[in-house]
Amino acid sequence: MFSNLRNNDKIYKNLYNGEWIESSSQKLIEIFSPVDGSSLGKVQAMTTEEVDMAIKNTKEALKSWQETSLNERVDIIYKAANILEENSEEIATLMMMEISKDKKSCVSEVVRTADLLRFTADTAKSMQGEALSGDSFPGGSKSKMAFVSREPLGTVLAIAPFNYPINLSASKIGPAIVAGNTVILKPPTQGSLSALCLAEVFNKAGLPAGVLNTVTGRGSEIGDYLISHEGINFINFTGSTAVGQHIASLSKMVPLLLELGGKDAAIILEDANLEEAATNIVNGAYSYSGQRCTAVKRILTFDSVADKLIPLLKEKIEKLKVGNPAEDGVVITPLIDNKSADFVEGLIKDAKDSGATLVTGGTRENNTIYPTLFDNVTTDMRLAWEEPFGPVLPLIRVSSIDEAIEIANKSEYGLQSSVFTQDIDKAFYIAKKLEVGTVQINNKTERGPDHYPFLGVKSSGMGTQGIRYSIEAMSRPKAIVLNIK
Ligand code: NAP
Ligand code: G3H
Repeated sequence: MFSNLRNNDKIYKNLYNGEWIESSSQKLIEIFSPVDGSSLGKVQAMTTEEVDMAIKNTKEALKSWQETSLNERVDIIYKAANILEENSEEIATLMMMEISKDKKSCVSEVVRTADLLRFTADTAKSMQGEALSGDSFPGGSKSKMAFVSREPLGTVLAIAPFNYPINLSASKIGPAIVAGNTVILKPPTQGSLSALCLAEVFNKAGLPAGVLNTVTGRGSEIGDYLISHEGINFINFTGSTAVGQHIASLSKMVPLLLELGGKDAAIILEDANLEEAATNIVNGAYSYSGQRCTAVKRILTFDSVADKLIPLLKEKIEKLKVGNPAEDGVVITPLIDNKSADFVEGLIKDAKDSGATLVTGGTRENNTIYPTLFDNVTTDMRLAWEEPFGPVLPLIRVSSIDEAIEIANKSEYGLQSSVFTQDIDKAFYIAKKLEVGTVQINNKTERGPDHYPFLGVKSSGMGTQGIRYSIEAMSRPKAIVLNIK
């Protein structure tokens, strides 16, 4: 299905005006697998002239795309969902090698994305405009009537991170195109081979030429040119806080949707079901080796709870299978690159040197970090505040619920938090005070279901994703006012 994306030398092309084309730059970026170092192919570092062409082409396509019926647009999205699902095995196998995610999770990312696309189409069909009578406002009159509909914004720049190259590309492309926009997809470099397959899925589904074009190349080289390009009308970015802040500082009068880093806290109260809490925390903190924005990234609890929780966590963590993502049941896989492993190792060293208690793990083999748990982490340690994006979890002991809330809120991040308790009043007391986008009661922090609003506050983001919210973010209301004489 995807052979036309690449030539015989495994050079991946870019989707431009409905065709897969090679760059004139002849500058290639080789994609090596973090699993075994094998070469998976090469992507092209596109030139600024080619970026101009790609954006200009989306503008031309926009003229007719925004005039197509919603029915036509959703049909293409349903087709894309089916094609994606039919090819889940092939895409997942490539993704597994490209981003070192275990095979089962790769398949479920693809299938979840097909569901997300179908739900996007369903939602778009049920989104109604409205008619507003003027007389509900003081001094207004029944002879004024506003017909409010939604209009596309133009060309959306979709920038995705490495950890969900299919899902976090499609969650931008689907809502953008159903709203009548055209899209430039800038995939993560490590993850671009998978994301280019997604572009081909839309192409095969019959998306008209130029509605989706791809731009490959390193963000550090081509990124600034893209985000400050005058042809871009909306930037939908998921990635690190550092790059998100950089984008916000460079963009001019262009609306932004930013999904950034997190330091999600799990607050465990004395009456919690500790067995259940431990299972949730281990799943939440260590799946895909902790490389999820919503991973549980710190535990806040009391001495009395910690003394019982730590042995439960230790037992479960030590059962986690470490290894090659192709193996059945593996959870801890090599991190995306050595630089990330160096960073996580630095956090582990700082915690050890600063007197935290290493409960389990703490070791490294190449870019694999063994699942690590620290007890007695204090607020002067880096691990209390920094996002590891790796399998290391700190437990911070607190003496009251209010202290837990205070430490949770002191973080620069505000993506999600969890509260584990049987007491619904306490759960709501804490949930209301936490400065985050979402609070999970008696569950790990997680994004789905994908139609829920998903947002971060403070350094965790700006704007709201989630199917209906994403469609709304990438469109604007237009009022036509009828004045009856
Ligand atoms: P990243 O380094 O910030 O990269 C994200 C994307 O931005 C990549 O496509 C990257 O391209 C591109 N980029 C880099 N510099 C750019 C520039 N100057 N202009 C435009 N684009 C640029 O993040 P990552 O390492 O892929 O992902 C991990 C981070 O993402 C973590 O912090 C995680 O918490 C966060 N994340 C957040 C969410 C959420 O929903 N809140 C979801 C997933 C991940 P290259 O790959 O070419 O560098
Ligand atoms: O990495 C960020 C993803 O949006 C997290 O999604 O909670 O379903 O793993 P997830």
